[in-house]
Amino acid sequence: MRILTGVQPSGKLHLGNFFSVIRKLKEYQNTTDLYCFVADLHSLTTFSSKDKQKENTYNAVCDFLALGIDPEKCTFWLQSSVTEVTELTWYLSHSISVNHLELAHSYKDKIARGFHPRGGLFFYPVLMAADILGFDSDRVPVGKDQKQHLEYARDIASVFNREVGNVFKIPEPEIDEATALVPGTDGQKMSKSYGNTINFFDSEKELKKSIMSIMTDSAGVDESKDPDKSHIFAIHSLFLDTKGKETLREKFLTPGTGYGDLKKQLLQDTLDYFAPFRRERERIGADPAFVESALKKGKEKAQKTITGVLDRVRNELGMYRF
Ligand code: ADP
Ligand code: TRP
Repeated sequence: MRILTGVQPSGKLHLGNFFSVIRKLKEYQNTTDLYCFVADLHSLTTFSSKDKQKENTYNAVCDFLALGIDPEKCTFWLQSSVTEVTELTWYLSHSISVNHLELAHSYKDKIARGFHPRGGLFFYPVLMAADILGFDSDRVPVGKDQKQHLEYARDIASVFNREVGNVFKIPEPEIDEATALVPGTDGQKMSKSYGNTINFFDSEKELKKSIMSIMTDSAGVDESKDPDKSHIFAIHSLFLDTKGKETLREKFLTPGTGYGDLKKQLLQDTLDYFAPFRRERERIGADPAFVESALKKGKEKAQKTITGVLDRVRNELGMYRF
């Protein structure tokens, strides 16, 4: 079983990224053939400067290593270091119509929010299909917002298999309903683009600021609070088992605890939960030689796999090889 996933290095990691996908990867690398990469080609759709691109990429790589991705157990690489994926993107682009790409929610949303409709943004799903199909992936864990991109990958693979040659595995999306849409501090989907994130590698001061900004209703200390309508409860639940959730639920329902205290508890649990990762993050961030050697190892493994798939594709397309 090969599991593959990627995350864009477009800012700091938040609880939505962690609980929907990243948390599972540590276990997968012990039990399956895990492929995981930092999607720095995709992040060019939101390019601002070369310094920012470099910084974000380095940080994302360090974040993953600190969160337990082990380059000995999993194939972990930087997307742009395996250039074969861009060649595959071109081959795949002939298996999807412009009309179909125009229906992409992420493309339409970005245009609606004032982004220039550039070719790269339009082509995003095709590059993502190449990421997935180029490595014979069986399953792809993602958040709910990536569901349509997975459908594109499956459609493109089916069209190619039918019209050109039977080359690709059809990948299955893996979307956990319980964590499919982690809410942000304002109750909308937690997302970098909405400025409502809780970033677990932030300084304690910044973390406190984000958690204290979680929106609440006006229930006072002496009133009962509805846990099912509270963003604090929804976020805190991510850290808790069934018993812990029940205890917290009681605390909400029983008058006597204010939202300020409930937020303080969430802050403390967040700090405790991520303490080992935060220490590891500091150590790895200061060791560029380790980071580089991890990426080199992953690049070699990833290149080997995609080359095998590309050979099948080139062969079916009759590309002249010498
Ligand atoms: P963002 O929306 O903050 O830019 P990304 O697009 O970088 O996040 O998401 C990386 C991964 O984390 C994707 O698989 C995405 O579906 C998942 N993800 C992001 N935000 C959430 C969320 N609020 N709830 C659940 N999953 C999420
Ligand atoms: N589009 C994904 C996101 O924004 C990142 C990504 C790129 C990805 N290629 C992928 C995820 C391949 C899974 C598989 O989160």
